[in-house]
Amino acid sequence: MTSRRDFLIGGFGAAAAVTVAGRGGVAVAQNTAPAASQQGDIAAAPYVAGTAERSLDIINLFDLEAEAEKLIPRGPFGYISGGAGDQWTLKENVRAFDDWQILPRYLAGVETPDTQTELLGSKVGIPIFVPPMAAHGLAHASAEKGSSKGAGDAGALFCAQTLANTPLEEIAKADPGPKWFQLYYTKDAGVNRELMQRAKSTGCTAIVFTVDLEWAGNREADRRNGFAFPASLPFPNIPNAPTGVSLAELFQIFKRDLTFSDIDFIAKESGLPVVVKGPLTAENAKECIAHGAAAIEVSNHGGRQLDTVPAAIVALPGIVDAVGPDIPVFLDGGVRRGVHVFKALALGARAVAVGRPTLYSLALGGAPGVTSMLQTLTAELQLAMKLAGCAKVDDITRKFVT
Ligand code: FNR
Ligand code: LAC
Repeated sequence: MTSRRDFLIGGFGAAAAVTVAGRGGVAVAQNTAPAASQQGDIAAAPYVAGTAERSLDIINLFDLEAEAEKLIPRGPFGYISGGAGDQWTLKENVRAFDDWQILPRYLAGVETPDTQTELLGSKVGIPIFVPPMAAHGLAHASAEKGSSKGAGDAGALFCAQTLANTPLEEIAKADPGPKWFQLYYTKDAGVNRELMQRAKSTGCTAIVFTVDLEWAGNREADRRNGFAFPASLPFPNIPNAPTGVSLAELFQIFKRDLTFSDIDFIAKESGLPVVVKGPLTAENAKECIAHGAAAIEVSNHGGRQLDTVPAAIVALPGIVDAVGPDIPVFLDGGVRRGVHVFKALALGARAVAVGRPTLYSLALGGAPGVTSMLQTLTAELQLAMKLAGCAKVDDITRKFVT
């Protein structure tokens, strides 16, 4: 029985007495001074977010959501945690990993598995990265500076994003670790060009082109909560981006009729490898490669867009087979366990990305919180590799799953 442990975590600008989950789980902060911005009028009052900077004692990543919910106001929490429609895909992203079993190979003599790998030329410590997510300021005062540093300190690549609350230059300064830039394609080609040039000049080594969100998905939690991005959390990387608006209103500035030729434009203008994020079919993925994509991120946007599309892990094998061994394929969606990472790698992903747990751990502990989360997941992956008989990432192949 783990002894009860007390941590002191700053709450939303208020000193917070902390209770700890009984078995030494993630510490939680009970807000003692609910600020006006906690409920309802998020778009009007200055938004407060988590301020703690501390490592977290995490049993597993699933615990983070309930603990983060005690810190993040209802509207922003619903925006982060929610999916589209009946949230079938949101749930299926996690559940579908259970359809695969691991086939261990004992007596392999694996004592210290090596999790290092290379992602589009960037050496990383782990085959796990932080995907692009809007508005990290909803979780913590350090926003993308915290999440970027937390990722870097865990040896993970960080994907900066168009809808960051932090200028790209400050994200780059926050951590020297490898970074990509996710582009939401505005209606203004000049803005797109300038965004990519800035990303490149701040050291981003790939452009992630998100293709599954020209229109906001049916986010019912946001409609119930009347969620709007807090006016005090701007999007500084887009000139004149509206603030205090809903996702649907915000997306009016983005191009609605994306086509494959936009991949050609991005590849040519940026001079960087383009990772197309969102394909779920072999045919779509192959067409992206034909138009200059260097890699595919198999993703359904964490179940936030078109509900009832397949889970990412279901779509993965067909795309890996279709694009062939020379095109890196990544996966995000529902990754919460080391065995999830293991299975995705065995099915051909070069790396996986972990979304919501990054924001939850950011809220609970800032950069050190994100590092704790990634280290917890890495330790689970290393245990799976030891018990399955895989000494390094490249050893994890399809023969290890059924
Ligand atoms: C996202 N995601 C996302 N994707 C993207 O390409 N650009 C973006 O700005 C965002 N914004 C965003 C905000 C929030 C709050 C979440 C939770 C997600 C999708 C993200 O990159 C990724 O596909 C999913 O989060 C992966 O699923 P899990 O790990 O969250 O289950
Ligand atoms: C979302 C958009 C911003 O999923 O990608 O909320």
